[in-house]
Order: sequence, then structure tokens, then C-alpha cells
Amino acid sequence: MTAFKPLVFSGVQPTGNLHLGNYLGAIRKFVALQADNDCIYCVVDLHSITAQLVHEDLKGQIRSIAAAFIASGIDPEKHIVFNQSAVPQHAELAWIFNCVARIGWMNRMTQFKDKAGKDRENASLGLLAYPSLMAADILVYRGTHVPVGDDQKQHLELARDIAMKFNLDFRDNIRATGTGVDILVGDEPVHAYFPMVEPMIEGPAPRVMSLRDGTKKMSKSDPSDLSRINLMDDAETISKKIRKAKTDPEALPSEAEGLKGRPEAENLVGIYAALSDRSKADVLSEFGGQQFSTFKPALVDLAVTVLSPITAEMRRLMDDTAHIDAILRNGGERARARAEKTMAEVSDIIGFLR
Ligand code: TYM
Repeated sequence: MTAFKPLVFSGVQPTGNLHLGNYLGAIRKFVALQADNDCIYCVVDLHSITAQLVHEDLKGQIRSIAAAFIASGIDPEKHIVFNQSAVPQHAELAWIFNCVARIGWMNRMTQFKDKAGKDRENASLGLLAYPSLMAADILVYRGTHVPVGDDQKQHLELARDIAMKFNLDFRDNIRATGTGVDILVGDEPVHAYFPMVEPMIEGPAPRVMSLRDGTKKMSKSDPSDLSRINLMDDAETISKKIRKAKTDPEALPSEAEGLKGRPEAENLVGIYAALSDRSKADVLSEFGGQQFSTFKPALVDLAVTVLSPITAEMRRLMDDTAHIDAILRNGGERARARAEKTMAEVSDIIGFLR
């Protein structure tokens, strides 16, 4: 039994300001995974036009995500950083996946239901097909591991369903072309062209919540800026937002169990843990029994210490657009070379002449 070569892939949309949820749920994990893995990190500009077609300064938004990647510590020479539209094979494979996936699968996606709202008939076809493009992003490199926040879990399950259906529908052609790999899916041996992607969601902050309401996800679209910490916020703003964050009147518990039913406390402890690479239990062993009036200033100090250098570096990089553009162009070329190889094999498996 052979296996796919491990490859980490993930993407971030160039829409609005990056916030602490994006950083802790995704980018900080991207950085940590570099040491032991081959990694590809993508600014998914094709995805950004699914919900809203026209964007003010989309080029600037794309550059700012690339700047955030690099300022956070991603090495664009050892790994690949690029923007999705530079590699047309993402859209090409997404078309094939549109023919593999079923409309019913897409209709069940909670993000589609949330984003389309009541007027589903008026949502773009691209918004419905969004997860198919996301599967193509990963699988055009035959990516195996995908670090994301908890909100992307359902999309990654769908990517597995698409990969599985392709592998089974084209089983004979995959064998005939000699392009497959023997894997186990559960106990079942499968001769696969595409791997079953593994979501990497674990960690103390897989779902960072709003600072104003511990039951709502921290999000770019929340009308209240006090609900989130943006990666471009200065120290004073971070301090103000954490001081104003909603809490309850109790002291912090000494064990993680005690956070149950206290969403705001759990969120702030999770943020502290993720920013300091510790577990929630470990943080509570230090702060258990203390009031938020003690914990919040410690969290402000930690957040400012971790985020300020990233913000400063992002600003510096964004002043040098030629440098960022060169990184993206170089990453795009290296990504394209890999994606072309996959698409040549996929075309052969399907039976296209080219
Ligand atoms: P996007 O751009 O909305 O978010 C980027 C990453 O940030 C994570 N995230 C969070 N994590 C924890 N707490 C939060 N409050 C929070 N908010 C956002 C997201 O889970 C994500 O990891 N569909 C994706 C982009 C994408 C992609 C891909 C990801 C396109 N193709 C292929 C992985 C692989 C999205 O819209 O992420």
C-alpha cells in the first residue's frame, strides 16, 4: 500500500480586513506547518467574486493578504505563495468537479445558505459552486492536509466526497493510465487519483468568537468593529477592544471544564492559549481564580506583543508593491508547473484529446 506524498494547502480570501480569527484559525497554523511540510498558500481571488462581484481595490486586497502571510513568517522561497487567478488550472479542474458534484450536495452547504440568505434564486451560480472550486484548489496539487478554521469543515468534507466520486467513477481509467495510488479509506482499499484531504482544525482556537457576543463567530462582516481585532489595529485599539470585550462576573475557573456555558470566558482563554502556543488547561492553571480585571491586561500585553511586529511588517511590505508582486508572480509560476502536470493526467483519465 503506497500513500500520497504529504502536501499542505490552504487559502484565504482577499475580502476586507484580516482579523484575529483568520490569524489564529489559519495563518498561525500555516507558519507552524512549514518546518516539516511542503506547503502551498493561496490568496483565493476567484472565490472573492462569488458573493460580491465588484470590489474596490481588489489588487490591493490581494497584496495585503500576501503581505500578511509573509509578515506572519511564511517563507515564499521554501514554500509557495501565490494568487489563485494566476493558475488557470484551478478553474479548469473546478469545471470538472462541477460535473462530478451533485447540486444537492451544494444546496446542503450551510455557508451557501447563510450567504445566499432568503433570496437563493438571486445568488450567483459561483456562490453555489464555491466548494467545488475550493476542492479544485487543493486537489489540483493533490494536496493532503488543509489547515483551516472550524467554519470550513463542511467544505472539506465535500472535497472528500468529490475526490471519492471521481476516484470511483474513473477507477478503470485511473488504472489504465497508471496515475493512481493505492490508499485505504476506512478499511476499504481504493485505487485513487485524488487523495482524501485531511482537515487540520485542532488547536485552542479553531473558532474565534466575537468579542461582543461569545456565541457568534468573529467575522469580517460583523457591523461592529469592536467585535473583532483586525491585523492592522494598533496597540491602543487592541487594548480598547479587549478591555471592552464582553465577559461574565465570575472569576476564571482553574480547569477547562469550568468554561462550559461561559462562551465569552472560553473565547478569551482560547485566544490567550493560541497566542502563546499553550493549551487552555495550561493557561487556566496560571489564571484560575483570577478576575477578568487581571486577565484582560495580560491578554492585551500578549496580543500586542504577538501582533504588533506583524502589523508593522505588513505595513512595510505593502509600501513595496513591486516586491509583493514579484513574490506572487514567482509563486504563481511554480504552482502552475505543478497544476499543469495534474491537469494533463486528469484530461487523460477523463479521455479528452489534447
Ligand atoms: P476565509 O477567507 O473566510 O478565512 C480564511 C481562514 O480563516 C479561518 N477563519 C477563522 N478561524 C477561526 N475563527 C474564526 N472566527 C475564523 N474566521 C475565519 C477560516 O476557517 C479560513 O481557514 N473558503 C475559504 C478559503 C478557501 C480555502 C480553499 C481554504 C478557498 N479555497 C482551499 C482551504 C483550502 C474561506 O473563505 O476562508
